[in-house]
Amino acid sequence: MSFTFSSTKQASSRSIQRMFLAGIGALSFTGIACTQQRSLEQPQAVSPQAGTTEQTSPDATIQSPSRRPDVVYVPTPMPVVDEMLNLANVQSDDVVYDLGSGDGRIVIAAAQERGARGIGVEIDPQRIQEANQNAQQAGVTDRVEFLQQDLFETDFSDATVVTLYLLPELNVKLRPKLLRELRPGTRIVSHAFDMGEWEPDQVVEVNGRTVYYWVVPENPPANLL
Ligand SMILES: C[S@@+](CC[C@H](N)C(=O)[O-])C[C@H]1O[C@@H](n2cnc3c(N)ncnc32)[C@H](O)[C@@H]1O
Repeated sequence: MSFTFSSTKQASSRSIQRMFLAGIGALSFTGIACTQQRSLEQPQAVSPQAGTTEQTSPDATIQSPSRRPDVVYVPTPMPVVDEMLNLANVQSDDVVYDLGSGDGRIVIAAAQERGARGIGVEIDPQRIQEANQNAQQAGVTDRVEFLQQDLFETDFSDATVVTLYLLPELNVKLRPKLLRELRPGTRIVSHAFDMGEWEPDQVVEVNGRTVYYWVVPENPPANLL
């Protein structure tokens, strides 16, 4: 597995955005296997016409999300997960929240490889079920949990690390909550998307993907809140 690192901000997020806007990698909301790695695909907002899990799940016991997800499920490739954990320097005393946790891979890797505690927040009950199965298979159920919640409503104030793979506008919408509720020094990493006017402390490229890193400051500037 080979990584390419760069300490400078790259234009690739702009190209990802262009791909995104051009509709490249457009996904159906339905039937995405949790273990697939989709190296060229990026998340997109769920259209008002998109079906709910209840309509699409073959498992009748899975309930529909409490409300429509803000973004479709697309997993972060594992080399990018590893780099996100590296960049945030995740250690065994960390509490890692993945907001929109999909199949749970980020918090499961944080627990399995770093000994951290992991909390996945996910609105789609089908993804929660997959994540719980994956945690069981990985033998980390004592260190991870998955909350079926809207990430905009979740109390994640005990996090020491927050991971994101959402959308640019969702990152910006989430920014005031992150800056108000997280303790100074909390590390945030985002796959593919920045935080608007909040300049990252570090930007890294891995396998053609961009990962952004911020540290919550003591006194966030008013324009970011
Ligand atoms: C692009 S996927 C990222 C999955 C995972 N974090 C990863 O990197 O592999 C985004 C996830 O966010 C979930 N999601 C969308 N809106 C949400 C919300 N308001 N609250 C919680 N989860 C949400 C989706 O169901 C989806 O699983």
